Amino acid sequence: MVTIESGAQAAYIVAALLFILALAGLSRHETAKAGNTFGIAGMALALAATIALAVDQDISGPGLALLIVAVLIGAAIGLHRASRVEMTAMPELIALLHSLVGLAAVIVGWNGYLHVEADLGGSEAALLRGQDMLGIHSAEVFIGVFIGAVTFTGSIVAYLKLSARIRSNPLMLPGKNILNIGALAVFGVLTAWFVIEPRLWPLIVVTVIALLLGWHLVASIGGGDMPVVVSMLNSYSGWAAAASGFLLENDLLIVTGALVGSSGAYLSYIMCQAMNRSFISVIAGGFGIEAGPADDTDYGRHREVTAEDVAKSLATADSVIITPGYGMAVAQAQHGVAELTRRLREKGVDVRFGVHPVAGRLPGHMNVLLAEAKVPYDIVLEMDEINDDFASTSVVLVIGANDTVNPAAVDDPGSPIAGMPVLRVWEAGNVIVFKRSMASGYAGVQNPLFFRENSAMLFGDAKDRVEDILRVL
Ligand code: TAP
Repeated sequence: MVTIESGAQAAYIVAALLFILALAGLSRHETAKAGNTFGIAGMALALAATIALAVDQDISGPGLALLIVAVLIGAAIGLHRASRVEMTAMPELIALLHSLVGLAAVIVGWNGYLHVEADLGGSEAALLRGQDMLGIHSAEVFIGVFIGAVTFTGSIVAYLKLSARIRSNPLMLPGKNILNIGALAVFGVLTAWFVIEPRLWPLIVVTVIALLLGWHLVASIGGGDMPVVVSMLNSYSGWAAAASGFLLENDLLIVTGALVGSSGAYLSYIMCQAMNRSFISVIAGGFGIEAGPADDTDYGRHREVTAEDVAKSLATADSVIITPGYGMAVAQAQHGVAELTRRLREKGVDVRFGVHPVAGRLPGHMNVLLAEAKVPYDIVLEMDEINDDFASTSVVLVIGANDTVNPAAVDDPGSPIAGMPVLRVWEAGNVIVFKRSMASGYAGVQNPLFFRENSAMLFGDAKDRVEDILRVL
């Protein structure tokens, strides 16, 4: 006979398969929509099965009412936030959501402690002792609380940095590596202690240490490495969910947590390779990275041009490369840029786009904006495909990009972004930089490109300036 319990387990297996299909679908943009649909279906099935299981097992009338109210409130907040969020604010929303996963893992861990370890004479503890599982339960509580608390505060710092509520510079406490390693060592010792003798104080101490460690790990990472941090926190949130799955004896949570944890770790690794960063250094909170001297170099004077000047040089150019960045997204200049591309191509100018892997604020940000503005796909090239062509290009338009075109990454070994691959725009005949001021980019580093002889600044909002150029053309 099919019981609710066995039905729910079957639903969990189907949901787990749907999540795997979702991940596979999301890895290529032709199949991304289907991947999203699989993910939504898997989550709906998982929620329905979990609620059915809870109703079947031990939930009372008021408990069920609370559960439904919680689901409705959560769904309303989720729908509201997701429908209003700007594309440029997506990473900070993701960071905030990860913090909730971390917080949930801490609460589940503490709840596990209150039910079992705090009540060692009670029935649940006796049951676990009978199965020789009490020590394993204590380890699950401790590890779950630790990973959850690190994820919670780490994600809050990532949110604050990404939304520019705090500075994105790395925090350089003296002996920061020793602090991190010390926190891990204390965690190891206390875990062993808690398994042997589950008391309240080690749990309080580890919660506080993990909250501080999460804060410190992310605060120590500079703005340029933030994309990797978001994907690393994604991974941590997966492991936190898996730890909760063990405590709640929920197989689907374990499988899903492991999927998120391992795919997030792999994505962080790939991003580190693309940015020439050491994976270990980033996950260990900037391990081995020391503060460089303050940049007080005098780069000389910059040159300013008007929209008319730019229109003239575009009209006589043979080839143009446009390198968009975060500023194009802020200004919503992509439609004007697409129109400019169309007009120049009609005049016979060879126009192409060079997209840096971390341009903007989330992977693929620029590609989505350009596709939305109907820029033909075949002229949008990746950094590696176009980098050798700048030297033979007449004009480069840098539209709201800064860190991704910074020559200091190549020329200055002391720069915080040294070694990060960048678009070598300065090799072109003429470089026009669209931005509103001489302010630095996300990584907070000055850009010597602005002061080069073949560079000129076109100040103002990127959308207004592109429209000015279109008018002159
Ligand atoms: P940024 O280095 O952040 O530079 C963007 C530039 O756009 C700024 O210098 C800003 O200068 C200008 N700007 C802003 N609003 C503008 C407007 N309305 N009109 C014209 N210009 C405007 O951007 P990027 O080159 O795209 O580099 C991306 C940075 O973000 C990297 O450091 C990367 O590591 C980081 N990041 C990336 C991701 C991912 S996964 N892509 C996630 C998080 C962080 P003004 O203020 O002077 O106008």
